[in-house]
Amino acid sequence: MKSSNLGWLVLVEILVTSSLPFTVASGRVRTGVFLSPKIELEPGLVSNKFYFDVDFPRGHIAVKSFDAEIVDEAGNPVPLYDTYLHHWIVERFFVREGLWTRDVSRLNSSDYISGRNSGICNDGVLDQFFGLGSETRRTATHIPGPYGIEIGNPAEIPAGFEETWAINVHAIDTRGVADRIGCIECRCDLYNVTRDESGRPLSPDYKGGLLCCYDGARCRRNETFNGIKRTLYLRYTVTWVDMDSSIVPVKVYIFDITDRWRRSRNSTGINAEHDCMVEYDIESCRSTGSARYRCIDDKRISLDMPFSGYVIYGVGHQHVGGSGSALSRKDGKPLCNSVPIYGTGVEAGNEAGYVVGMSTCYPKPGSVKISKGETLILELNYSSIQQHTGVMGLFYLLVAEKLPQ
Ligand SMILES: *[C@@H]1O[C@H](CO)[C@@H](O)[C@H](O)[C@H]1NC(C)=O
Ligand SMILES: *[C@@H]1O[C@H](CO)[C@@H](O)[C@H](O)[C@H]1NC(C)=O
Ligand SMILES: *[C@@H]1O[C@H](CO)[C@@H](O)[C@H](O)[C@H]1NC(C)=O
Ligand SMILES: *[C@@H]1O[C@H](CO)[C@@H](O)[C@H](O)[C@H]1NC(C)=O
Ligand SMILES: *[C@@H]1O[C@H](CO)[C@@H](O)[C@H](O)[C@H]1NC(C)=O
Repeated sequence: MKSSNLGWLVLVEILVTSSLPFTVASGRVRTGVFLSPKIELEPGLVSNKFYFDVDFPRGHIAVKSFDAEIVDEAGNPVPLYDTYLHHWIVERFFVREGLWTRDVSRLNSSDYISGRNSGICNDGVLDQFFGLGSETRRTATHIPGPYGIEIGNPAEIPAGFEETWAINVHAIDTRGVADRIGCIECRCDLYNVTRDESGRPLSPDYKGGLLCCYDGARCRRNETFNGIKRTLYLRYTVTWVDMDSSIVPVKVYIFDITDRWRRSRNSTGINAEHDCMVEYDIESCRSTGSARYRCIDDKRISLDMPFSGYVIYGVGHQHVGGSGSALSRKDGKPLCNSVPIYGTGVEAGNEAGYVVGMSTCYPKPGSVKISKGETLILELNYSSIQQHTGVMGLFYLLVAEKLPQ
């Protein structure tokens, strides 16, 4: 550690107690540490809120990393077995000038436009630029070299609109709950939920997933547990550089193993409807019976790439039970493998039994090229020793359309 880091830590303390955004510059790279609005929780309770117009670096910049974690009011990291971070996502919106508001119910749909990522799911699903879950503390997010995620480009912001950022945090307070894994897998019976948030009855086949752990839902607790309410925050650390001609923009793509897509080729080229389900269930290998099957749920889909470019970074997203994710070429040649890292201890970032990180891919820029129209294979494995509900199988890819001159 350099001695200047001490000053930095002190400043972080000031930040947490004052809850004001704070930025520092080191050479060209600037760092900002921000706090989400308060997240109020108590044992068993779910918080799943969208916060609009959150603190975020402004200007025409390139984001170099985005890290996040749940902290308490003193700024201490909160372990996953107390507060499970199901997911956080960061989305861009263009909001009509003068209408910036933290209250989404006041926004007319004609007053904002999604500024989603580059694909590939249909609009409205997996639109985020950044987003992870329990693995956030130990998943590398930095973008190397001259590459970065370009934001705040005036040419991309519709006239009369301003670029704003929204964060959705889904956290579950599992202190004293009857079944921690069941609660984090949003099992409907544990939440005593038979209707979704808007009151529509759920199919009896729907055993678990986001529809059962909506904002305000409560997971079953042990009778004896008395826990206090607590106030938490998502603390997110962003690094960035000012945009200039030396920076090479990368695009954000997200692939989903549950993508039920249909290929259609016509005169405009490849077209596809990408109906991404986001969540799926893993049946227990005991219930599926036969000893012929190993206890691995191995899902593969092929996807036609609607873009060309060079892979700069790749990472998968899996829940507990996950045992690996991979993107490969049609002939089987691997492009990127990303495997979950399981915790082995008690401290935040190493909680035993939880996915606390995902390994990442940083191919040598230029060495992994994707061609438009090429078919890639996405593969996601989960252990099926136990049943799992509401698991996910995503793969993020950052792609540069060109290499630096
Ligand atoms: C939303 O905008 C449309 C078109 O500008 C307008 O007709 C409508 O009354 C607005 N609704 C609200 C609730 O402001
Ligand atoms: C709640 O009780 C069950 C059954 O005794 C136990 O397995 C579980 O670990 C308890 N949960 C917590 C959070 O202590
Ligand atoms: C579960 O929900 C039903 C009806 O929605 C209610 O009658 C029952 O008391 C609830 N059980 C628990 C344990 O909360
Ligand atoms: C090509 O297919 C897409 C849908 O997949 C459709 O929206 C588009 O209009 C089609 N183009 C032509 C020229 O038929
Ligand atoms: C998934 O499991 C199969 C064995 O069933 C194995 O051959 C494959 O390499 C695994 N893939 C990943 C991405 O872990």
